[in-house]
Order: sequence, then C-alpha cells, then structure tokens
Amino acid sequence: MSQMSLSICDVVDVSDAESIARYVEVPANQNGPLYRTMFPHSGTITEVQMDEITRWNVDMLQDAFQERWERFLKVLSTDGTPVGFCGWTVISRKSEEVINHEIDKEPKKEKPKKKTWVPETLDVDAWITISKALRAERERVLKDLDNICRKLNYITTYSYLLKYLLTYLGLTFMAVSPNHQRQGIGSMMMERICKEIDQYGRCAYVLAAPEGVRLYAKFGFQAVGSVETPQGTITSMFRQSRQL
Ligand SMILES: CC(C)(COP(=O)(O)OP(=O)(O)OC[C@H]1O[C@@H](n2cnc3c(N)ncnc32)[C@H](O)[C@@H]1OP(=O)(O)O)[C@@H](O)C(=O)NCCC(=O)NCCS
Repeated sequence: MSQMSLSICDVVDVSDAESIARYVEVPANQNGPLYRTMFPHSGTITEVQMDEITRWNVDMLQDAFQERWERFLKVLSTDGTPVGFCGWTVISRKSEEVINHEIDKEPKKEKPKKKTWVPETLDVDAWITISKALRAERERVLKDLDNICRKLNYITTYSYLLKYLLTYLGLTFMAVSPNHQRQGIGSMMMERICKEIDQYGRCAYVLAAPEGVRLYAKFGFQAVGSVETPQGTITSMFRQSRQL
C-alpha cells in the first residue's frame, strides 16, 4: 500500500480505542519484550483470553484518550481501518524547590480511584517489577536533564522559565499493524511528532522496544541507557532540544 492512500489525523474520539487496540496496538506489540514479560504464557493462551487482553487495552486507551496532556495520532487506510497509532505527552518538570514549596502550600488532592481490572493471564508481579524499573530509568535520565537546564540557567539571564518549569515530550505509544510495517508509516508519524518537538524547542524521551530503536535513531534520538527485561532490552532514548 502506498503512503498516498493513507491518511494521518488526530485521535479525537474515545470510541476509536476499540479499533486501534484490535487492529494496531495489541497485534503490533505481541512480540515485544514488555508484552511477553507481562503475558509470559502468550504462546498458549486461548481466544477468549486474548479477547480479554484486547478489552483491557481498549479500556486503557479509552482512559488515555481522556487525559488532558496526552495527544494521539492515527494513520488510516483507505477503508478507514487504523494501521498506525502513536501518542505522546508533554510533561512539565519543575525544579525541586518549586515542587517542595507547592507541597507545603497545597494539601495533596487525592484523585478519585477508578475501578480497575486486569486480565487473568497478566503476570501482575512481573508487570509491577518492569513498570518500576522503567519509571526509575526515566527518572534517572530526566534528572540529568534538570541538571543540564540548571547549569544553563547560570549562564543565561532570561531563562526564568527554564529554571522553574521545564517541559519535554514523552512518547507513550508507537505501533504499526504487523501487515503494514516497514512501509514508512512509523516514519510518517515520527515526522509529525518531531515537527511539533522542534516548533517548541522541546527535548523528547522514549523507552524504546527493540523494533523501535532504529526508527527513533533515524529521527535523532540517542541511546542513553537501558532496562533489561526477561524478554529483551528496552532502550532509553533521548532527543536533545534543537534550541538548547
Ligand atoms: C517500530 C514500528 C512502529 C516501526 O514502524 P514502521 O512503519 O515499520 O517503520 P518505518 O517503515 O517507517 O521504518 C522506520 C525504520 O524502522 C526500522 N524498522 C521497522 N520495523 C522494524 C523491525 N521490526 N525491526 C527493526 N527495525 C525496524 C526500519 O528498518 C526503518 O529504518 P530504515 O529506514 O533505516 O530501514 C513498528 O515496527 C512496530 O509497530 N513495531 C511493534 C511495536 C513497537 O515495537 N513499537 C515501538 C514501541 S517503543
């Protein structure tokens, strides 16, 4: 299929979660280290169990689509079926002094707890362990970023905003349906994302599955660390702001 017959657009409707999970997100990620760590028996699961995993993904996407700071793109084939999907979030990191000050000032507001469920085939312990490791790696890299910006702050006089509020783009989803991979769809989505990154002069960060490493490298991301999972390596990749 040529790229001419594809269209790329924002995901604006929560109901898109169903087709994106079924046609793109779940089939694309099935062989990745995260999925195989979370679902270690994925080779032997039944159709009913697979359907449950898909429904879980639909629920997660529906929640994500309602997050204020998240943005999503989908690539559609001519018949309207989604073949590509990506998401990112713009994260603000405030300097520690500001965070501490705000904690003193404002009592912590508890978010209303949602009813959650997990598929019976999910290895919950493995899921928690890998999530913690990934979060720790992300924090490690972004702490360095804070330090870089603090240092920059000493040599610039107008970077008040940099000192207190620094934003970066975190890639959260990137998937192309297996039948449409290696036809430039991932690159098409990355071009859009990088245009936005460069427009605002932001840094960007991604925890990349093995299949994504080459794609991200092509768009200027560099490996800065890694997390080992029982099923393969997740590479921590950072893209420097073009304005820094
Ligand atoms: C990673 C992914 C989104 C790439 O999408 P795509 O549409 O195939 O990407 P493109 O066709 O634009 O190719 C971009 C680059 O990625 C490389 N690439 C694509 N699929 C790859 C794969 N399976 N393994 C290794 N590299 C791959 C291509 O070789 C290409 O580099 P090149 O131009 O130097 O040859 C797609 O393979 C995918 O959905 N994989 C499963 C989910 C996943 O791992 N997502 C990344 C999560 S962080």
